[in-house]
Amino acid sequence: MNTLVGVGVGPGDPDLVTVKAANLLAKADVVFVPVADSGETGRAEQTALFYAEAWRVERVVFALHDREHTARREHAWDAAAAQVARWFAAHPDGTAAFATIGDPCVYSTFTYLAATVRDLVGELDVQLIPGITAMQDLAARSGTPLVEGRETLSLFPMTAGADRFREALNRGDAVVAYKFGRMLPETLAVLRETGRLDGAVYGAGLGLVEEDVRPAADLDPDTPGPYLSTLIVPPARTGRGGAL
Ligand SMILES: C[S@@+](CC[C@H](N)C(=O)[O-])C[C@H]1O[C@@H](n2cnc3c(N)ncnc32)[C@H](O)[C@@H]1O
Repeated sequence: MNTLVGVGVGPGDPDLVTVKAANLLAKADVVFVPVADSGETGRAEQTALFYAEAWRVERVVFALHDREHTARREHAWDAAAAQVARWFAAHPDGTAAFATIGDPCVYSTFTYLAATVRDLVGELDVQLIPGITAMQDLAARSGTPLVEGRETLSLFPMTAGADRFREALNRGDAVVAYKFGRMLPETLAVLRETGRLDGAVYGAGLGLVEEDVRPAADLDPDTPGPYLSTLIVPPARTGRGGAL
């Protein structure tokens, strides 16, 4: 049986790869890594190369954050799936890993790829290995508990629009924001307007050389951030066990 495994490789620090993921990366017949068409080393690729020799790593050009051009993005996904399907045609009953940043079930393109590959190859066992998410890494690096007691957590891609972000903040939830890099000034403005800026923590490039972790209140309100930026906005807390 052909086997395709979506492997979460964490946000960037190779030490944050699970033992299960490291074992699979070390023994899979091939490790596919999504890369942009710029030719730069991909984020998942950088981490995968700690565990897999370069000759087993195969780059797949993926529309990583091409939101505006739907047709181009669809074409890139189809081409990526066709590349993986060609590999299975040449390696029947092989095991292919597909490395994805963070967790493969949290805003990952792996699920689109797996569905398309299955359509192309027919028999395919799809498996998933969880990974540490960027929000968990930021919580640990900044010493900010994500949720305590009866608190609820909203995970929020800023691409869903500022209004829903504002609603979650006004409800008093613990809120995590993803995918806001270019919209950082707008994101900070909503935090300020809802009275949630103080206590919020920002982390960019977590686990990478460019890592930047600091209180959101210390950010320049007018400067966009990088794509790999995460925010944790904890609820107001009243001390030990206050949310129980
Ligand atoms: C397409 S989502 C992928 C999420 C990933 N699957 C996870 O489980 O964390 C991309 C978003 O994840 C966050 N992210 C991923 N890696 C990060 C890192 N190293 N540093 C900061 N944020 C990161 C950013 O908010 C980025 O816009």
